[in-house]
Amino acid sequence: MIVDADLLIHSAAQVVTCVADAPKRGAAMQDVGLISDGAVAVKDGRILAVGPTESIRERYSAGQTINASGQIVCPGFVDPHTHVVYAGDRIGEFEQRIRGATYLEIMAAGGGIVSTMRATRQASVEELVEATLPRLAQMLRLGTTTAEVKTGYGLDLVSELKMLEAIAALDLAQPIDLVPTFLPAHAVPPEFNGRSAAYVDWVVNEMIPAAADWYRNSHFAKDSELSRRPFFNDIFCEQNAFDLDQSRRVLEAGIAHGLPAKIHADEFTSLGGVGLAVELGAASVDHLDATTPADAARLAASGVVGIVLPAVNFNLGSHEFANARGLIDAGAAIALSTDINPGSAPCPSQPLVMAIATRYQRLLPAEALNAVTINAAFGVGLAEHIGSLAPGKQADLLVINSSDYRQLAYQFGGNLVSAVVKNGRLLSL
Ligand code: NIG
Ligand code: FE
Repeated sequence: MIVDADLLIHSAAQVVTCVADAPKRGAAMQDVGLISDGAVAVKDGRILAVGPTESIRERYSAGQTINASGQIVCPGFVDPHTHVVYAGDRIGEFEQRIRGATYLEIMAAGGGIVSTMRATRQASVEELVEATLPRLAQMLRLGTTTAEVKTGYGLDLVSELKMLEAIAALDLAQPIDLVPTFLPAHAVPPEFNGRSAAYVDWVVNEMIPAAADWYRNSHFAKDSELSRRPFFNDIFCEQNAFDLDQSRRVLEAGIAHGLPAKIHADEFTSLGGVGLAVELGAASVDHLDATTPADAARLAASGVVGIVLPAVNFNLGSHEFANARGLIDAGAAIALSTDINPGSAPCPSQPLVMAIATRYQRLLPAEALNAVTINAAFGVGLAEHIGSLAPGKQADLLVINSSDYRQLAYQFGGNLVSAVVKNGRLLSL
């Protein structure tokens, strides 16, 4: 019997499924689940079947078909760490860095995150949405179909809630599914200068409870099972930001209010954030540039996903990168992300991140592809629904204009994405 599907993509030179029921680690990161001459059948926004074209065509027919001959089909990319909602830009700081200032020096002098905070506090929800839509459109054209998005440029209750409203409005206004993360502890705001302990009290006692209320009433919590999104709580654990004890207080307060933890750790300085992430069962620990071998072993022995962000190093003109090769070899589950933000990484492109990671961190193309799909999906708590091509999963997939998946990391500077299917619908880009 032939089953009716909505969409049949067939004759792909390669279908790469990236299937895994736990975050990929070790040798599994080199397995992309490759099917030659492959096909995917889609119905009601979900994947019905994946397999060789011949066997899929024997069992399924569809009103809409895509002949992907000479191309590959892969899962839509998941970008698991972004600060894509913000007002203004930091082009001046870009020039300051070219002239020799460092990111931490600019931050200590009152620029950096706090300068984007000033612009973001002045913007309305509508202005934030308007400013962010073109960035999300670019990410979509580059293959991102789900993105985590952090607050952290408001740094007071009203402005942080305004950012959450903007994230919710953006989720409904365009195709990329957004996963909200609360990050009021991104920097100490100027009104708390020299009083970071008082700011942490405020975050713990006022802001996190208010954000948890906001989430309960938002569509992210209320939607049907397939479209429900988690709500994470994050902190920047770093010199001149928040120390380890403060990070523990903030993340534990979030957990007490039902917000799973994420943490920015070891971006410049190793303060023990990896151990905290492991102890608290965080969804991810992000950056990992300054991670010690002992912490790498701790991460490898845990279920926490390590998210590395090499577009930051590239953007800061650094020649040093997180030791992602060593982390994978130690057995850690690694994901890759753009970290798109106006300061450390104005980068919308997961393929560019793959290009950097393969060259400077010695990931194989297969490892980089798993790191932007299934492992990234685990990093945002959504691997049950997205990140791989398997029956029952949300039909988020890409057609890539090449017959070899390795081209995704091998080429850079262009865009090989020729079609994006989101929730089973072929988008016009
Ligand atoms: O992940 N490190 C902290 N947060 C961002 C930078 C944000 C900014 O510079 O505006 C990051 O790199
Ligand atoms: Fe970040």
